[in-house]
Amino acid sequence: MEEKRDLRKIFDQHIELTDFFTGFTVKPAKSVSASQPQENQADKAELLAEVARQVKECQKCVLGGTRTNSVPGEGSPDARLVFVGEGPGENEDLQGRPFVGRAGQLLDKIIAAMGLKRGDVYICNIVKCRPPENREPRPDEIISCLPFLKSQLSIIRPEVIVALGAPAAKTLLNTNKPIGQLRGKFHDFYFDENAEPVKLMPTYHPAYLLRNYSDDNRRKVWEDMQAVIAELGLEVPK
Ligand code: URA
Repeated sequence: MEEKRDLRKIFDQHIELTDFFTGFTVKPAKSVSASQPQENQADKAELLAEVARQVKECQKCVLGGTRTNSVPGEGSPDARLVFVGEGPGENEDLQGRPFVGRAGQLLDKIIAAMGLKRGDVYICNIVKCRPPENREPRPDEIISCLPFLKSQLSIIRPEVIVALGAPAAKTLLNTNKPIGQLRGKFHDFYFDENAEPVKLMPTYHPAYLLRNYSDDNRRKVWEDMQAVIAELGLEVPK
């Protein structure tokens, strides 16, 4: 009975969120991919494919033994904007693609509300294999997996990174501050010690938003995304 009520609540929240996000004016998608010479694009795609091959073979931590599929990430090799989540869930593990479950559907709506298409951006996670029972990834798992994410970010060289949720934000910024304190402003992210920093915006994870549906949380995420759109020099949908 309790479970039935919860499912009903989740379903109702989902419908409300659907209404909310489709309530935004969704502008025709414009390109958020950097214009690059064709051979450069091909190089990046090839390099990302090589990272994906290595991810598929990886057995560096226990998650390699429990996954159905690894989930390297997907999107434009020339993306100016990269979203980084926590780790694959059940649907992602089954399909080998990031953010394809309920949280992913909400992320798609957020991306559309920003006036973009999923294929314009790159979407990946700090760990590439599903932690059992959707638990948070453990520090040793994150440490084993981080080189893959760093390689992906160094290949793509986005102008802005959005860290979805506390594990992604804390890992990329090497901090223990709560997500509530980190979100709402840009932080510097360094690809390596010689590179200029790029902007990183932490925000709430779509799964958190689904669980904690409130005007306040919804407004905060949208404000974070508006700052990202402005930073990219794109028109903020009204
Ligand atoms: N949550 C994440 O953090 N990543 C996914 O790919 C899906 C759900």
